[in-house]
Amino acid sequence: MSDSSRSTQRPTTTPGSIRLDPWLDHYAERTSGLSASEVRALFAVASRPEVVSLAGGMPYVSALPQEYLQQAANIATSSRRSEALQYGSGQGIPQFREQITEIMSLEGIHAHADDVVVTTGSQQAVDLMCRLFLDPGDVVIAEGPSYVGSIGIFRSYQAETVHVPLDDEGLQPEALRETIARLEAQGRHIKFLYTIPNFHNPAGVTLTMERRREVLDIAHKHNILVLEDNPYGLLWFDRVPPEAIRSLDGDGVVYLGSFSKIFAPGFRIGYALAPHAIREKLVLANESAILSPTTFGQIMISEYLSHNDWRGQIDTFRGVYRDRRDAMLKALDDFLPTLDKTRPNGGFYVWLSLPEGFNSKEMLPLAVRELVAYTPGTAFYADGSGQDKIRLSFCYPTPEEIRTGIERLSRVINRERDLLETFGPGRAHGEDQAHLVTTPPPNTN
Ligand SMILES: Cc1ncc(COP(=O)(O)O)c(C=O)c1O
Repeated sequence: MSDSSRSTQRPTTTPGSIRLDPWLDHYAERTSGLSASEVRALFAVASRPEVVSLAGGMPYVSALPQEYLQQAANIATSSRRSEALQYGSGQGIPQFREQITEIMSLEGIHAHADDVVVTTGSQQAVDLMCRLFLDPGDVVIAEGPSYVGSIGIFRSYQAETVHVPLDDEGLQPEALRETIARLEAQGRHIKFLYTIPNFHNPAGVTLTMERRREVLDIAHKHNILVLEDNPYGLLWFDRVPPEAIRSLDGDGVVYLGSFSKIFAPGFRIGYALAPHAIREKLVLANESAILSPTTFGQIMISEYLSHNDWRGQIDTFRGVYRDRRDAMLKALDDFLPTLDKTRPNGGFYVWLSLPEGFNSKEMLPLAVRELVAYTPGTAFYADGSGQDKIRLSFCYPTPEEIRTGIERLSRVINRERDLLETFGPGRAHGEDQAHLVTTPPPNTN
């Protein structure tokens, strides 16, 4: 192709205008749903050492003994090297899938390894499910709030996320019934119910057994598939959560698990357990997306599970996160005693309600200035609600850092409260503050 013919095919810019992306007209329509998540923008700010980050959901991987990893790596790079360095099956290594069924049995699931598909984190399992089930305009029902990463995937498939409220006992069945009735009356296509029953991200709450049965019953009646996303279930603190929804139904539930929180997210290994027909399609979709999940990672984790006390290691993680949860709740009781919050019995997150009139997104730059970061509630709703909520993560900072972070947050909130009381809503924090989210906090040294 000559230079002149190539240039005629390039998108042009009108004189005087600056177009940063010359391919803007070429993208597929579905990319309009792709945007940087609020969590992602935060990681850049929160990673600065002087900021106490209560924002991200990073597991505390330092609690994992180095010798466990070294031993597994030795095997993956010596006796199992030819397998570990090679392409593998699109479904995952059979022996590893057997081990996954053992892990799932801890939550009451009795499954066959043939029905397990290994994925690149459970994030990819959500993506594969959307690939299989969602057409533009379809509906996914999810708790309100729900996991920001999944909302982003639903959006990228041009589906609409319709939220159903939750309370301290998880998703509200009555609200689910009403939502389904309304959507059906509108002729909408509900493809699945996406739910995080244990130690919800971001709300921290757990669905009771009674409600698990009720939700399943409603799903059956309306022929709606349930997508149960359960990365935190084994990380309980005070009492074991109810058994998985999948333990009650093998046909109407696709169950997702992950090694990110009970081992390490760097391996990017999760899994789906699905009824036969869906499982076959998941394998095909997995092959078309990535050929095969990481063999190296599967072998590392498989060897770790074979040779180490992985149950004891989960106990260790539980102890670490329990101490941090306790530190966060105590600090919130001490510094922000009047605010409503959830009291999680596991997982990584506390969901905090701000006083009326607060806007957590607009307040964030002020918090970062005070050297504390959180995730605004709006990140967890597809429709932009959640302004008066924030998610606080207790998984990564030490108990001392958590206390410092909450004390700093209380200063911001109390100042905002004073301003709100004096000037009313909208005067407390100007929108012009929003750009500060991505600019460095003042140097305090
Ligand atoms: C509810 C939920 N689902 C899925 C994921 C993604 O996990 P993974 O690392 O397995 O992809 C996360 C990560 O934080 C999560 O909280």
